Amino acid sequence: MGSAKWHAIMISLPHQGHINPFVHLALKLASKGFTVTFVHLESVHYKLGREADPFSEARRSGLDIRYATIGDGLPLEFDRDLHFEEHWRVMMRDFPARVDEFVGKAMRSDPDWEYLLVTDTFYPWPAVVAPKYNLVNVSFWTQTALTFALPYHWHLLQLNGHFPCKDKMEEEIDYIPGVESINTKDVMSYLKESGVSSIVTKAMAAAFDAVKSADFILHNTMHELEPQTLSALHKYQPNYAVGPLNFSKNLHHSAVSNSLWSEADCTDWLRSKPPASVLYVSFGSFIHTTKQVMEELAHGLLLSGVDFVWVIRPGILSSGDADALPEGFGDEIKGKGLVVPWCNQIRVLSNPAVGGFLTHCGWNSTLESMWCGVPMICYPIAYDQTANRKLVIEKWKFGVNLCDGERLDRAEIAEKIKGFMSGASLEKLRQEATKLKAAMEKALEFDGSSERNFDRFVEDLKAKIVDVKSRVAREIR
Ligand code: UDX
Repeated sequence: MGSAKWHAIMISLPHQGHINPFVHLALKLASKGFTVTFVHLESVHYKLGREADPFSEARRSGLDIRYATIGDGLPLEFDRDLHFEEHWRVMMRDFPARVDEFVGKAMRSDPDWEYLLVTDTFYPWPAVVAPKYNLVNVSFWTQTALTFALPYHWHLLQLNGHFPCKDKMEEEIDYIPGVESINTKDVMSYLKESGVSSIVTKAMAAAFDAVKSADFILHNTMHELEPQTLSALHKYQPNYAVGPLNFSKNLHHSAVSNSLWSEADCTDWLRSKPPASVLYVSFGSFIHTTKQVMEELAHGLLLSGVDFVWVIRPGILSSGDADALPEGFGDEIKGKGLVVPWCNQIRVLSNPAVGGFLTHCGWNSTLESMWCGVPMICYPIAYDQTANRKLVIEKWKFGVNLCDGERLDRAEIAEKIKGFMSGASLEKLRQEATKLKAAMEKALEFDGSSERNFDRFVEDLKAKIVDVKSRVAREIR
């Protein structure tokens, strides 16, 4: 065992919300003595652009992380964000063969390594590629255990008439092991009638079929946040809550450049603002919205009188229109608001001037908000975000809802934001967020739950690699 050379081939989804936890998982595995080959899509590499190899600094710090890219078959200039469905159709069709070829080539180039595959649970092909090459198959789920448990029990949803969930109907789903109850209105958009024809539903159905053959499943959550759900999942397959990986101790997190857009610095602007007075507004890296939503939000923010930093990512409008804000908005906000295309979110959230986060409830944003002890005002748009909101508001109690229906109204937004940012209510939410932050810090200590789970995973993984190796040797004889 002492001379074993473990080599993890890691393939993330090509989206910021997946790349971030994957990069930190790579650092973590490398810090435990694994060699890692981290694979990005060529289009991601092109967007990262600023540095040839995003892991060069990590390597200089002594970690053996190598870097490679695979094409998805589409031209680099193709706008994958805007044409998401088409991109995913190509990914489902062509990417598996490309990965297969890549893995085969890597293994032939150095047959002495003991290889394993670490991939995003969204990918269905590891179920085919891993057994073909006798690789231990590690599946990494970058979201909540709740949003894993629902599609994991897809057949139960079907049996109970909840796949697809009717859009207008509200029913409690109370038969998923480890999930007390979730209303159909809160389930992920790809399980709902209106989302069911999307490529995401097809991809998820295939992925959750495939994940049943994974040897290990890692979750970027922590046990304390979702104990029942995680324990229930563990009865079916080895599941380990090892998150939040971005804040894992003793890792040189800034050693990897993984931001797909360049970051504007908000520090100077925030410096002049009183503590906890600024609302940070961002809808993540991925989701699109309409001009009408942006206009109502813009006016709502202005009417609220609250100072804000608003990230408006290039390409946020589903129409492809570059102009997301009402005319003259820039002049109207004067010193009250700062609009940037992208920023270092954790740095902004941890600035003392920031008191709240108006967010789409992406899982990384939720974890980062908790980590910084910042209460959330929730405006989920799609995918797992409605389920995350439910957890934030009902279970962890450090957030409020922006609006009840889907329709946004500027006067209502202004009232909500004013109420949220003012004194007593914000203080109460902040106390809850601070408790969660403390629990997170504890989970990441060397004897904390996430750290212990990671160590247990590494031990189990090494034993499994030995098992697979012996089985293959027996089969050859
Ligand atoms: C989406 C889903 O909604 C999310 O729940 C899922 O886990 C991944 O896919 P996304 O919309 O990108 O993700 O949201 P989120 O998970 O919050 O990730 C966004 C990431 O981008 C965060 O890590 C955040 O720090 C980063 N970010 C965002 C920046 O670095 N700068 C910004 O200006 C905005």
